Parts: sequence; C-alpha cells; structure tokens
Amino acid sequence: MIIFSGSQSKKLAEGVSAQDDLEPGVVEVRQFPDSEFYVRILSGVRGKSCGVIQSMPDPNNNLVEMLLILGGLRDCGAKNITAVVPYLAYARQDKKFKEGEAVSARTILGILDEFSDRIITVNSHFLDNAGRFKPYGIELENLDAFPLVAEYFRDKLKNPVVIAPDKGAVGYAKNAARIIDCDFDYLEKTRISDDKVEMSIKNLDVGGKDALILDDMISTGGTIIEAARLLRRKGAGSVSAGCVHGLFTKGLERFRGEVDEIACTDTLETGVSKVGVGELIARAIPY
Ligand code: R5P
Repeated sequence: MIIFSGSQSKKLAEGVSAQDDLEPGVVEVRQFPDSEFYVRILSGVRGKSCGVIQSMPDPNNNLVEMLLILGGLRDCGAKNITAVVPYLAYARQDKKFKEGEAVSARTILGILDEFSDRIITVNSHFLDNAGRFKPYGIELENLDAFPLVAEYFRDKLKNPVVIAPDKGAVGYAKNAARIIDCDFDYLEKTRISDDKVEMSIKNLDVGGKDALILDDMISTGGTIIEAARLLRRKGAGSVSAGCVHGLFTKGLERFRGEVDEIACTDTLETGVSKVGVGELIARAIPY
C-alpha cells in the first residue's frame, strides 16, 4: 500500500509509511499566487491500494488539498483509496442546533466519501467510541487515541483522578481511568460564547489529588483553563491536561501557570504533541 500525505500531516505520514508493507508515496503540491492548489501524483499508483493522510486544522485549505490528492489518485488508476483524516474539521456541527443550520459534518464527510473508498478518523468529535460507524449513512472507522494519552500520564501522576470537562467526554475519561487505575468524574460545563465557558463541580472531592483533565480537543483552551482553575480552587494538588487534537487556536502560552503539564497526540503537530498515533493508524490502514 502506498501512503501519501497532505501538507498538514507529513511527519505523521512518514511514521505511518515506515511500518512494514507500507510505502511512502510522492506527490507534488504547491499553491498558485491566487492560493489555488496544484497537485501532481508522482508515484506510480495504477492498480495499487493508496492511503492519504491529512489532518484539517486549517479546514478549508486542508480539505481542498486532500480532495485534489484523492481525485488525482483516482485519475491515475489507484485500485482503492483510503482517506485518513486524523483530525476531522467541521465535526462539531454534527446536527442542527438551530433551524436552518447547515450540518457541516455530514457535508464534509459526504465529499470525502465521494472521493475515496474508505474513511478513517481519530476520535471524531461526534463519535463517543472507537469502531466502525455509519454516520449519515457514510462508513467510517474511528480510532481511539485516548488510551495512548492515558498511558503517557499513567506513571507521571502519584494520586491521580481523571476529569472530563463535560458530560460528553465522560466515556473516554472512564476508559482512561481504567488504564491509569484511578477514579474519574466529569464537570458541568455551560458554554457562554465561542471562547468562554462556565464550570461547576458536583460531589467530586479532588483535595490533594493529581487531576488529569482529558478532552477530545483543545481549541481556544477556554474549557481546559476554566476546568483547571476550578480544580485548583477545590484543592487539587496538581492539574494536568491531555487531549487527542491540540488545535491551540490562541497559542500554548496561555496555559503557562494554569496547568502543570499539557500533552496531546500528533494528529496535529504542536509544541506538545508528545503522544504518537502513527502505529495506531498503521495498524488500521492496510486494505
Ligand atoms: C467540546 O465539546 C469539545 O469536546 C471541547 O471541549 C471544546 O471544543 C474545547 O474548546 P475550547 O478549547 O475552545 O474550550
């Protein structure tokens, strides 16, 4: 199988294609002065299984580049094409919250499905579990990197407790707590605006504990920072934060002094991508 990469996931794709039976593919990608992409497949792919890895922190550009690579592979006669989108953008608008809203996740998945034979994601926001799913009638395999994040923190925390910053993340927190062998709970979160949330704690006693806040993604950081402040006010001895997708749209600097450690996976390349998902993808990708 030949593994290609969009410009967003080059390092990750190198790690994936270094595994047995996978071969790196060569694609030329550049942008014209008006920002349109030019894509040319340089490896011979006729009759071969191909995978393309591209995360989407810069959603619109990354998506178009990915589609052009997928389309190019099809035109060059690839036998089958797997679209691997470790961080799938537009996944938070997965339903109509208000009348008239576009269901962005369905549209984006629908386009990816048109251009590929198989879709693989890592902890897609609208799915609570790992496995094969058919959201909107579109088949996709969702990989779970939370166990890897939990393993990263396992030996670092002396008196741990895992905290989900909202009810939606409690399933992942529960699994992580099993790996770390500790208790878990969740906070009540109310979103006030795009970058402001309010949080409260119910019965949980975090006094003297090493709290690990786990979330699928960190975007502005508002959720993690608010949770960390609350846990400290409630007496936590230390507060760490882990996530799968570190977008850090407002930078990493704002976490300084708020958390003792922060770590995410390399679905997105950041200064704190301490957990590798290359093997996880390499195991799932062979066709
Ligand atoms: C929301 O449901 C997600 O799981 C994250 O909690 C959220 O996207 C984090 O956003 P931010 O870092 O901007 O608070």
